[in-house]
Amino acid sequence: MGKITIAVDGYSSTGKSTIAKRLATALGYIYVDTGAMYRAVTLYALNNGFIGTQDDIPGLVKQLPKIKLKFVPNKETGRSEMYLNGENVEEEIRTMKVSRQVSKVAAIGEVRTKLVEMQQQMGKDKGIVMDGRDIGTVVFPEAELKLFMTASPEIRATRRYKELLDKGEKVTFAEVLKNVQERDRIDSTRSISPLKKAKDAIEFDNSDMGLEEQFERIHEFAKRVIAKEG
Ligand code: DC
Repeated sequence: MGKITIAVDGYSSTGKSTIAKRLATALGYIYVDTGAMYRAVTLYALNNGFIGTQDDIPGLVKQLPKIKLKFVPNKETGRSEMYLNGENVEEEIRTMKVSRQVSKVAAIGEVRTKLVEMQQQMGKDKGIVMDGRDIGTVVFPEAELKLFMTASPEIRATRRYKELLDKGEKVTFAEVLKNVQERDRIDSTRSISPLKKAKDAIEFDNSDMGLEEQFERIHEFAKRVIAKEG
């Protein structure tokens, strides 16, 4: 059976990455978290003073060729982790410090061009599950299977809040909810590749459903698409 391309898009903290990762494992496909790539560029911009109290977007754009991103599998867990210029930044890119700034960096055209090219290269042989915001619309408009994940902002903020508390971050629920809503707004209204459901994407709302139950449904569905299109 041939392999297909699976695009998983949707709002932040909708369980996209959990579903996409499990789907990739179950199908023996590669999993790529494109949000990690935008987060790593944001971390670079923060560490080098291109964003913060004052933003220097042209300065950041000039440095883009110096930003080397790589996913490396962790030897113990097998999970792929993000490396920025040779350094493991997997944990740091998930902090609120990065979440607060990432939508701004993801709205820069030159950043998107660079990352979209890398993503298309990673998926050129198919057999990939890629999660993000513009995978079904821009990166792989020809993907055989497109999923669009949604859930209410409150449910998403609750999930994210728990994750951050587990990691020991000192945040309030109100701050996390505000960040989720603010990112929704910026990500869906930016002029370049805004977050929007591709016409041929299938929408899954998991506000009232466990991710486990949803995964089973999506997995069955994916197997049918692979049998037909693969
Ligand atoms: O999936 P995430 O929450 O880790 O993504 C972080 C940010 O990156 C998100 O606010 C929007 C942006 N993003 C994007 O613009 N395009 C993608 N393909 C993936 C993420």
